[in-house]
Order: sequence, then structure tokens, then C-alpha cells
Amino acid sequence: MDPDHLEKVLDFIRVFADRCHHGKEEGIIFPMMEEYGVPRAGPIGVMLIEHELGRGYVRRLAEAVERYGAGDIEALDIFTENAKEYVELLKQHIDKENNILYRIAETHIPKDEDENLLERFEKLEYEKIGPERHEELLHILEKLSAIYLK
Ligand SMILES: [Fe+2]
Repeated sequence: MDPDHLEKVLDFIRVFADRCHHGKEEGIIFPMMEEYGVPRAGPIGVMLIEHELGRGYVRRLAEAVERYGAGDIEALDIFTENAKEYVELLKQHIDKENNILYRIAETHIPKDEDENLLERFEKLEYEKIGPERHEELLHILEKLSAIYLK
């Protein structure tokens, strides 16, 4: 496996999944849910804990990529193991968000905040990634998918 591809996967996870997606949740939607009476202790707290667990996996993935890049072949097993666990964490995390958390958000946040939310999401995306980087990340994902998900 090309170490450069692993670097790219890591970059995608860090920027797209963590900085952008989790950034929108932690910086915008969770605080707004709290503003409208959803307590932090409960589903929001669980999501925050899971984001931290995810960051733990990403740190271990980064260490493995670095070691692999330096010629340590065994680090690829560490990468694979952590990547699989990270995928499992994210699958159930996304499921909880879609089926529990966002249903709670919909019942608490009034509909007339939708536009405000959308604007804030776009602003965050623009500031944290930028349009060119966004396109570049999607392009990398397509390229790697064509190689590895045949
Ligand atoms: Fe999340």
C-alpha cells in the first residue's frame, strides 16, 4: 500500500470528518440544541465522548501512517486494526445521530432557525476548509475509491 494514500485518507478524515463535520456539530448544532433546552448531559454528551474516541483512533492512525512511511511494515496492521474500529465507531455514531440526536434537535429547534443554521454551516465550511480544498478532498476520495473499492 502506498504510504502517500494513507496520508491522504488521514487528511480526509481530519479535515472533512473531524474539522468540518464534527466542527459543525460541536460549534453550531449542539450549542443551539442546548440553547433550546436540550441538556448537555445525555445524547449530546454521548456524541461528544464518541467524537473524542474517534480522535483517539485518528491519532493512532496518524502514528501508524508515520511509522509505515518510515519503513515499519508492521505498522500497517496497526493502521488496519484501528481503521476497522474507527469505522465501527462511526457507523453506530452516525446511526445514533440520525435516529436519536437529530430527531431531538428537530423537536427542539424551531423551523425558523433553519436558514440561520444553514448559513452558519456554510460559513464554517468556507472558513475551515475553503471551496478549493473541499473539491480537492472529494477528488482524492474518488481517486482512492477507484483504486481500493473496485
Ligand atoms: Fe458526530
